[in-house]
This record gives sequence, C-alpha cells and structure tokens, in this order.
Amino acid sequence: MCGTEQALVIKSSKNSSVPQATDNNGSMQNHPSEAIINLDHGDPTMYESYWKKLGQKHNLTIPGFQSLSYFSNIKNLCWFLEPKLEQEIKMLHNIVGNAIIKDHHIIVGTGSSQLIMAALFALSEPLNQPNPINVVSPAPYYSSYPEMTDLLRSGLFKWGGDANTYDHKDEPYIEMVTSPNNPDGVIRKPVVITNGAKGMLVHDLVYYWPQYTAITSPADHDIMLFTVSKCTGHAGSRIGWALVRDENVAKKMVKFIEVNTIGVSKEAQLRAANILETISVSCQKIKSRDLENFFEYSHNLLVERWKKLREAIKKNELFCVAKFPLQYCNFSGDFTESYPAFAWMKCKDGVDCEKLLKEHKILSRSGRRFGSDPEYVRVSMLSRDEEIDVFLKRLPTILDCK
Ligand SMILES: Cc1ncc(COP(=O)(O)O)c(C=O)c1O
Repeated sequence: MCGTEQALVIKSSKNSSVPQATDNNGSMQNHPSEAIINLDHGDPTMYESYWKKLGQKHNLTIPGFQSLSYFSNIKNLCWFLEPKLEQEIKMLHNIVGNAIIKDHHIIVGTGSSQLIMAALFALSEPLNQPNPINVVSPAPYYSSYPEMTDLLRSGLFKWGGDANTYDHKDEPYIEMVTSPNNPDGVIRKPVVITNGAKGMLVHDLVYYWPQYTAITSPADHDIMLFTVSKCTGHAGSRIGWALVRDENVAKKMVKFIEVNTIGVSKEAQLRAANILETISVSCQKIKSRDLENFFEYSHNLLVERWKKLREAIKKNELFCVAKFPLQYCNFSGDFTESYPAFAWMKCKDGVDCEKLLKEHKILSRSGRRFGSDPEYVRVSMLSRDEEIDVFLKRLPTILDCK
C-alpha cells in the first residue's frame, strides 16, 4: 500500500456506524479502507457523542439585547471575565480537585493559546532585558510553543529550544511545564536547574483532567493554564483560563488581552459557563438519569481506544507506545493509568514514522515538530469513533516497505 493517495475525508453517516469516505462535497467516493484519516490535529471531536446524547436540554439562548458592553465586571481585575464563567470555573475545580483556586486570579482568554502569549508577555516585559529572554520546554514539547514564541520576532522573548540542554543558566528564562505533556502524556515537573538565575514557570495543565490521567493532588503553581478545548471538547468556543497568583503578573496578562482583543467574546464565555455547569452537575453523587458523569464517560471512551491501540500494535512489531504507571485518582477514588489525548508512537529505528503512516493514508505529526526524532509520531486519540476505528483496523496491516 506504499504509494499514491487521494484527498478524502471520513464523514460519519447519520444512520450507520460505518464510516463513509467522501470528498469535500460530501459525495460518496471510496470505501473506508481507502480514505485518508487525519489524526494530525488534536481536534477534540470525540466529545460530540456525549453532547449529542444531551440533545436540546442544555442549550443556551442569548437574546439580542444581552452582552453588548465590552465590560463584564469592572470591579474585577479581569474586567472582561463573565461572573457566571468565573463561578463555574471555581465550581468545577473544586469538584475535580485538580487546581487550587484560592489566592489566584482567574483570567479568561481566547483559548489557552492567547493566555500562553499573555503569560510570556507578563513575565518578560517588566524585566527590561537588553535581549529577548529564552522560552524553553523539554523535548518532546508541544509543537506550537516554538511557533507562538517566535511568530512576531519579539524583543521580549524568543524560543530557546529543549529545556534539557538549556545552557544560559545565569540569565532569566521561562520554562513551559506541560503536565500531562503533549505529545507523550507524561506527568512533568520543571527540569532546568539554575545557578541562581531568574527562572519563571508557566504550568500548561490543559490535559490535567480525570479522563486523561489520575488527579493525584490539586495543582498549586504561580501560573496555571486550562481550556474548555481539552476539558469538555468545545475547542470551537475558544475559551481558556489562567489561574495566576501574583497580582502584577495577572494585571499584565489582562493588559495583553486588552490590547490584543479588548477582552474575550461574551457569547463564548456564557456558552462555556453553561457547558462547565452541565459537567459539574453530571459529577454529582446523586445521579440524574439523563446526565451521565462526563468524566466517567470520556475516560471510558479513552480506555477503550487505548486498549484497542495496544492490541493493534501487538500485532505489528513495527510500532510501540509507552506504558503508564497506575496511580490513585482522588476524583474517581480508584487506581488508573493515564489515557492521554495523543498516542506518541515510535517506529523501529531508521523508519520515518510520519512518512510511513502517510503512505497508508494516515496523517500524523512527526516527532521532529516536537524537537524529537522522525521515528516518533503523534497521533490524536480525540477524533470521532469512525476515524479511530479505521485507523486501528489499518494499523496492524502496515508493513515496513522501506
Ligand atoms: C499543551 C497545549 N496547550 C495549549 C493548547 C491550546 O489550546 P486552546 O488554545 O484550544 O485552548 C493546546 C492545544 O492543543 C495544547 O495541547
């Protein structure tokens, strides 16, 4: 099967669980076994099935006269944060137990992506350094960090690469601590050890939710980032939030968003608040018949997918994926392994894994993009069932035709 490919997408059929290979106009083109499966992006469409089950029950209507003002709460440091969203963020963290809210300011952003930029600005700007300071993260790191950091060729910060080999330990720097990590799902701590230099940390905790990993303790760091994209699957709403301890850093982050986008869409905030409220209610001990616990539902989906992935790989010695330790989860009250949002797969030595998968019409992201080797690829585990099913059926059939 090493050879040509056609531009096809998998589209779910309303009446059948069998995937249809269609072109962009939706017309039937080919058998699923021929279709291109795009597992490159971490697009969280897996969660659609949960929200579809709820139907119209948790819809939100916003009348035309509502939410006209730029301002949400002028008494709040983050003046564009909708009070309802603030309340639901607090509620959810208290229920899940994954972060300490107390003594932190909540800042809403257009996705956690905007908050990463806001944090880099807020930490670097007051230093008044003659040269841009380094932003580092240990490889394999989230592939967007280098792009985001260097996009505007800022005079404040620049991408400094792999934190494991970072060597300017007497200068100020920022380390991105991504835990669980994208792409490999590993729980992380900071790695740079300094000689007294001013190291600053941004904890990117967008995957620290119980469907992906055990909640072992509430995170309590100076800057922590979360997003509905990876928590509830509502990436299209573009709502993220930061929990920030230091008031001056929080003010600078707000300033960044003020100058950048003059706040964050109120419609999106209200929708996110509604969604967060629904999942908090779904976690209540007294079970509502028509509202399944959101985290249990999505955890079970990921457990099933990872089980099938490991079985598929067992039948093909070309690939391997890491094992994760069992840990006690305070949220579920049970031991669990991690079931990350991405599979970080390694091919046998000398094989360009992204290229090999592409020859088999599976789009993934090369290890190179994460500061790692081409033997590695990142494959999204958050796509719709139809795509994951075709991927898992195709995986055992792939041969090394190098
Ligand atoms: C580690 C990490 N941080 C941040 C983001 C940005 O997410 P969003 O801007 O959708 O909140 C992503 C998205 O994939 C991510 O994987």
